[in-house]
Amino acid sequence: MTARFPHDFLWGGAVAANQVEGAWQKDGKGISTSDLQPQGIFGERVERQSGDFGIKDVAIDFYHRYPEDIKLFAEMGFTVLRTSIAWTRIFPNGDESQPNEAGLAFYDRLFDEMAKYNIKPLVTLSHYEMPYGLIKTYGGWGSRQTIDFFERYARTVFARYKDKVQHWLTFNEINMSLHAPFTGVGLPEDSNEQAIYQAIHHQLVASARAVKACHEICPDAKIGNMLLGAMLYPLTCQPADVIEAMQQNREWQFFGDVQVRGYYPSYMNRYFKDRGITLEVSAQDKEDLKHTVDYISFSYYMTGCVTTNEELNQKARGNILNMVPNPHLASSEWGWQIDPEGLRYILNVLYDRYQKPLFIVENGLGARDTVEADGSINDDYRISYLNDHLVQVREAIEDGVEVWGYTCWGPIDLVSASKAEFSKRYGFIHVDRDDSGNGTLARTRKKSFFWYQDVIKTQGESLK
Ligand code: BG6
Repeated sequence: MTARFPHDFLWGGAVAANQVEGAWQKDGKGISTSDLQPQGIFGERVERQSGDFGIKDVAIDFYHRYPEDIKLFAEMGFTVLRTSIAWTRIFPNGDESQPNEAGLAFYDRLFDEMAKYNIKPLVTLSHYEMPYGLIKTYGGWGSRQTIDFFERYARTVFARYKDKVQHWLTFNEINMSLHAPFTGVGLPEDSNEQAIYQAIHHQLVASARAVKACHEICPDAKIGNMLLGAMLYPLTCQPADVIEAMQQNREWQFFGDVQVRGYYPSYMNRYFKDRGITLEVSAQDKEDLKHTVDYISFSYYMTGCVTTNEELNQKARGNILNMVPNPHLASSEWGWQIDPEGLRYILNVLYDRYQKPLFIVENGLGARDTVEADGSINDDYRISYLNDHLVQVREAIEDGVEVWGYTCWGPIDLVSASKAEFSKRYGFIHVDRDDSGNGTLARTRKKSFFWYQDVIKTQGESLK
């Protein structure tokens, strides 16, 4: 096996606006759904009071400190940085006819800073947030009008950054709306499946319209989708468990099937029929959906199992995605099961299914770090997690899978999405801040910083 990754493989990290930027009310930014979730994406939605505390309000203050952070990423050798644009910086309420110039100017500064170091931006249009104004006035993605507002936003940023950004993504983990409807599609958490799938349909049409707009406005750029790659294994080799795994995997693969193939897969007819779901799909929607993505991106943290055994299923309820634990795998402190070979597997499955280039845009280990007396942070557990996953990426490339790049999640510590904690850290760069918002925000290189620097420098040859 060749030890080196392809010479044009993109190496870097991924962050999201609402988890790093802070400055939640600066320069005309509107209130986003994320601002109303101080407990994270599964947490209760709160009305903000003036002067109250939300850890994301400052986050790691990337809005002001990005030059220092980009410099550190460059020192590690990054050739790509994934981030998102906060829609509310551009259209504060979502329905304005003109964009907010101060918001647009911020991302100009950010992309220009990356360009200084030849770091390519990989930009997500919507990463777990949308203008709250669109929810209050229109009902979020439940409304068709939101498609038009999103398209206006997408066209605005494509036109503005067409000379600076060559890689785009539409919606972060678009399949997550099934588990977190407010975060994903701006609907109440107790919405029924009919309402959720209708909103998802609107979002899929919006994603396709953004693809069309991107191809028109930035003909040289590439635009992809983004899936939460939650591969499920059958818990046993009983045929019923195998069928169950096939069906549950389709619940996330469905999104990719529509975005890559340009139409609803036939298995969804039965799925909708069995659940009494009837979608309103216009002839124009079907035309719009034909604008398919150039590549597929996904996040990968873990795998899980499924079974038809009701007793085991009961126990699994409440776990993220209700996965049944795999008895052969160890778990992180947060109960996420660690499965490097699963990454090789999902890369092969997606490539077999679509024959389109893939981009791993999130992967990493959330862990508590200890700052030693001398200030060092020896995060060998993180190095070992990332090493083992990258070895499997290299295997998949050897298998023949076309992989464009790898942006591990949270190259700098940031606020976690699921619980809005600070103690769950992913970074190569430590940020001095705790769950209550105390700390200097100073940045420090961890041991993994030098490890990743070496991996990039040797194009993967240093992996063990
Ligand atoms: C993905 C999200 O689900 O997982 C990120 O796209 C998120 O926004 C990441 O941060 C890790 O999850 P968590 O809850 O550990 O931050």
